[in-house]
Amino acid sequence: MNIFKAIFCSSLGKKYIMGLTGLALFGFVIGHMVGNLQIFMGQEKINAYAAMLKSVPKLLWVARIGLLFCVGLHIWAASQLVRENRAARPSRYEVNDPTVTTFASRTMIWSGLIVFAFIVYHLFDFTIAPDYLGHDAKDRHDVFKMVILGFSNPFSSLFYIIANGLLCIHLSHGVKSLFQSLGFSTGQFRGWFDRFAVVIAWVIFIGNTSIPAAVLLGFGKEVL
Ligand code: HEM
Repeated sequence: MNIFKAIFCSSLGKKYIMGLTGLALFGFVIGHMVGNLQIFMGQEKINAYAAMLKSVPKLLWVARIGLLFCVGLHIWAASQLVRENRAARPSRYEVNDPTVTTFASRTMIWSGLIVFAFIVYHLFDFTIAPDYLGHDAKDRHDVFKMVILGFSNPFSSLFYIIANGLLCIHLSHGVKSLFQSLGFSTGQFRGWFDRFAVVIAWVIFIGNTSIPAAVLLGFGKEVL
């Protein structure tokens, strides 16, 4: 059996694929949050940051295609593992026992699918159709105004807050599992990695939702 077949056909290989693609997506979520938090440093800072990201289009497209590839592989491996687990399990209730599994682990498919739907909505909201908002005084895409305008709609903000809650539930279990799949979370370190997963999920939730929450409370309204 060649290495490609060994990775894509075995359960262990699929777990590695889940772990590695999950790690890449997790890295994106952290980087994206840190970048977005610059909005609190004002219009100039966030617009300059967005312009900087777009100043190397080739690199941007490599990153976008890489992310899409990771999302596709992550979903494919997840669906394969779920199917294999179901086929191997004599009774649904054995693994679904709520005293053994957590809410996050039992709802991974649903939180993952809703986060995926959120990403599609988010791309239409902020990436695919934002040009009607025009440019700032330095003729750059006015990301600051776009975000303030977007989150001034309480329904949109509420959807972002709920989706980020689900993303963080997904990550609290996903990050824990990825350390296990990649073989780091063993013996005495297991508890540390499990706690890290929960703490980082909360950090991402608070970091991301602070933006719509701040806009709802009046932040940035002077640009509208
Ligand atoms: C409330 C939190 C968030 C804010 C304020 C935010 C803001 C933004 C903005 C402003 C852009 C467009 C950048 C530009 O066109 O210059 C963007 C793009 C994007 N965001 Fe978010 N985002 C948030 C949460 C998320 C989350 C949780 C995810 C994924 C799980 C995500 C995934 C993406 C992706 C994939 C893009 C497209 C990047 C590209 O191809 O250029 N965002 N976001």
